[in-house]
Amino acid sequence: MELARSVTTIGAKRGVTVQFDFDNARADRRDAQINATLPLQRYLESLHRNYQALRDGTVATYIPELAKADPDWFGISVVTADGYAYAVGECDRAFTIQSISKPVIYAAALADRGREAVLRKVGVEPSGEAFNSISLDPQTGAPLNPMINAGAIATTSLVQGDTAADKWSRIAAVMSRFIGHAVTIDEAVYRSESHTGFRNRAIAWMLKNFGVIDGDPMEALENYFRQCSVRVTCRDLACLAATLANGGVNPISGERAVPAEDVQAVLSIMATCGMYDYAGSWLYEVGLPAKSGVSGGVIAVLPGRFGIAIFSPPLDATGNSARGIAVCRQMSRDFGLHAFGGSMAPSLVLSRVYSAREAPSRRVRATGVATRLRAVAPQIKCLSLQGDVGFDGAEYIVRNVMRLASESDSFVLDMHRVTYLTEGGARLFHDVRSSLFAQGKAFVYSRIRGKPGVLHALRHTLPEGDNGFLSFEDNDLAVEWCEDRLLASQNVPLPRVSTRASFPLFAGIDAKALARLEPVMPSLVFPAGATIISAGPGDDDRIFFIESGEVSVVLELSDRSHQRIATLSSGMSFGEMTMLGSTARSASVHADTEVRAWTLRASALDVLALKHPDIKITILKNLSLDLAQRLRQANLLIGTLAA
Ligand code: DON
Repeated sequence: MELARSVTTIGAKRGVTVQFDFDNARADRRDAQINATLPLQRYLESLHRNYQALRDGTVATYIPELAKADPDWFGISVVTADGYAYAVGECDRAFTIQSISKPVIYAAALADRGREAVLRKVGVEPSGEAFNSISLDPQTGAPLNPMINAGAIATTSLVQGDTAADKWSRIAAVMSRFIGHAVTIDEAVYRSESHTGFRNRAIAWMLKNFGVIDGDPMEALENYFRQCSVRVTCRDLACLAATLANGGVNPISGERAVPAEDVQAVLSIMATCGMYDYAGSWLYEVGLPAKSGVSGGVIAVLPGRFGIAIFSPPLDATGNSARGIAVCRQMSRDFGLHAFGGSMAPSLVLSRVYSAREAPSRRVRATGVATRLRAVAPQIKCLSLQGDVGFDGAEYIVRNVMRLASESDSFVLDMHRVTYLTEGGARLFHDVRSSLFAQGKAFVYSRIRGKPGVLHALRHTLPEGDNGFLSFEDNDLAVEWCEDRLLASQNVPLPRVSTRASFPLFAGIDAKALARLEPVMPSLVFPAGATIISAGPGDDDRIFFIESGEVSVVLELSDRSHQRIATLSSGMSFGEMTMLGSTARSASVHADTEVRAWTLRASALDVLALKHPDIKITILKNLSLDLAQRLRQANLLIGTLAA
């Protein structure tokens, strides 16, 4: 039976449409089940239950269309900086964004005109007055900040565009990146405000009078009314707040909405001016950059972490959503979200320090080389970092690096768990890298790909004339590079294999016995890039002995990426597990270069063992010795990583 692909339901309450797609319904149902079990989801549900009964505040009426809102409407949504969304209550009901549009347009004006030009027209001082107060600088006539209507109207006039229509396209484009979908306007609200916005109209003419607005003030005002009338849901606002929390990148769409450097300015203004004449109490009690709107929206941002949004139309005396304030105050108290509530101790950014002795690369070295490397491997230090690395965290890291420098040759900074790196922190890293370089030591990064918050800071702070920094796909490749560097400095000669006797698997087998193996060990050549072994079931029972060239043993991961298990070269063998009875291959082997290898079928060895069992016994003993050594190394690594 073919399920109907989508059904539209008109909600009883005015102007609400909800769409369901049955195909994804199953996946959504599974996600919803998981979501329902998440502690924060349950917490938000209890918060919603508690504050649904709050009857404080009244719905805004000065814009007649807004007066139609139902005071019981109430939604809470949280979107994390890595794009996970929580939602409780009325989170899909559309309403108009109103003043929550102001931080978005301020970010757009900064990106289009630059800080200096915007600061010449709009100040950054809290007015301590209501949102519609005519708070202009007595000398310049400039609005005190971009969050009060005067400042917002001026800011709207500053976005790039030769015509009002061009400016609107720019406004709509930036907004859609913040909320993750195309914007639509609630025409009824727009007309309602445009027809009754006399105070704003007066403000716009004042701004024209003081030369704050260059063009037609009424064009700027109409664009301001339009931006305030953009339809959003509580989820959209949480996504908008999370985009600010994520340094200007929408964590759900992955699209950059505004440059990272402008986000700091926007959050600063939101912290000091976002809640108007309640801003002081808000910062005191909640301590997060925030913005409210007259239709009942409130957003709050925990930088680097997540965005919170509440929708509830009844407003308190300062024009902020009464339930919105209450919910944020409670969340800040319950989770210690206050920005000045003590940040993470700098030392916590350093989660682990270990050396290549405990965690060598997966490049398998010839016995002699491996022994030599184990002796010097402690000179390669790996530092695992985590969380937001600011100036203080970086200072702590750098101090530890310099403390270890005298006994070290190279440092690998594993950035996998770093959520954000400030420019101040990046500068310290560049500095220590160049001073280590001057001592002939290396300082490299691993796992920074796909981390815009880290890459941006490192690239943006590269000193003039600096040749740049090295970063590796993963720790394994970074450590291998450090090992090769160290071995090269130790002039360790790499052994060349010419005969079968030099393979560890054949250790203890005399020449006569080896000669018995030769007829069943043909030499084959594999071109670079060839797949020599494919993971999975099969009947290929060959063991391979590398005469020359290099191969990599790789595992395909669930996300279809590949993880290197080992890189093998001349004098090493692979595929030995077929001797233990199964021809299923646990990993694939690819030729990194042209490879010349002897092959030995396990079945041929079994036949040979019928007459000469000692050969197979010796080979199996050597294999178990090798497996034991690998087990010891793995335990050492687990011990290090578990510490
Ligand atoms: O300009 C106005 O008055 C409205 N469009 C926006 C005001 C607003 O959202 C104030 N926020 N609390």
